[in-house]
Amino acid sequence: MNHLHPDTLRGQRALVTGGNSGIGAAVARALAMAGARVAINYVADVEAADRLVNEIRADGGEALAIRGDVSSEDEVRAMFHTIIDAWGSLEILVANAGIQRDAPFHRMTLQQWQQVLDVNLTGQFLCAREAVAEFCRRGVIPEVSCAAGKIICMSSVHDVIPWAGHVNYAASKGGLMMFMKSLAQEVAHERIRVNAISPGAIRTPINRAAWETPEAEADLLRLIPYERVGDPMDIGHAAVWLASDASDYVTGTTLYVDGGMTLYPGFREGG
Ligand code: NAI
Ligand code: BGC
Repeated sequence: MNHLHPDTLRGQRALVTGGNSGIGAAVARALAMAGARVAINYVADVEAADRLVNEIRADGGEALAIRGDVSSEDEVRAMFHTIIDAWGSLEILVANAGIQRDAPFHRMTLQQWQQVLDVNLTGQFLCAREAVAEFCRRGVIPEVSCAAGKIICMSSVHDVIPWAGHVNYAASKGGLMMFMKSLAQEVAHERIRVNAISPGAIRTPINRAAWETPEAEADLLRLIPYERVGDPMDIGHAAVWLASDASDYVTGTTLYVDGGMTLYPGFREGG
């Protein structure tokens, strides 16, 4: 069933980083179904980005694909220039790009540590900085949205659930939580809302090993009270709400979309 109405984000322009795969692709699709124009950032696999652009256009939406590494200051600046040249401005940033480089802590290389911080945290900083500058420059256009801009940071349940073997990743997402809240506090008076979505286990390439065999999926389901692995569109729907004026009084908040993964499922029995 389609719960998205094409007037919800009509007239708004969005950038989704890492928009050609998994959660980012579903968010891009959902924003487009809700009426937004969507720029789909990719760093690899241009074919996937082009396919998604064509799908959105075939459904009557407007989209474009933009290459850019979110951890590169120059490439992020160039990406925002491209969007602003094409569409005049933008109202929505979904800073979604993220990676895992897992290793036991004593064998984690500096490169594994640094790559994860560069993409998952510095990438958020670089993209949000360009977005805030543009939102402040343009200000509120009441016919488009009551806010000057909305930033949605794609975090993770691992911003609160510690994760052995993934110390770099959990540190990046924990850091992202205070990044999001501090930025939300700083720019609220500009009528810019900054929020995070923290997904639980969503079926995408990043965690294929956790769901691709029946045994792995059964193990994973023990951590999910709602007893299903998440679908990328679960996150797409949440992103539309956070980007829309329906959530206009919401800022500095993390929305956990996790089937209850953060509810300490180990305590269902005992304790
Ligand atoms: P994915 O691997 O399908 O997507 C990651 C996207 O980020 C890809 O499009 C990739 O090309 C892009 N990316 C990586 N490095 C980049 C860079 N330097 N510049 C631009 N783009 C880059 O994985 P998924 O699951 O869709 O991940 C999306 C976000 O959701 C990530 O931030 C991840 O941490 C987060 N997340 C995912 C969960 C899951 O269970 N799948 C759960 C919680 C959070
Ligand atoms: C990770 C996934 C994992 C999920 C739940 C996400 O942040 O990227 O690999 O399945 O958290 O643990």
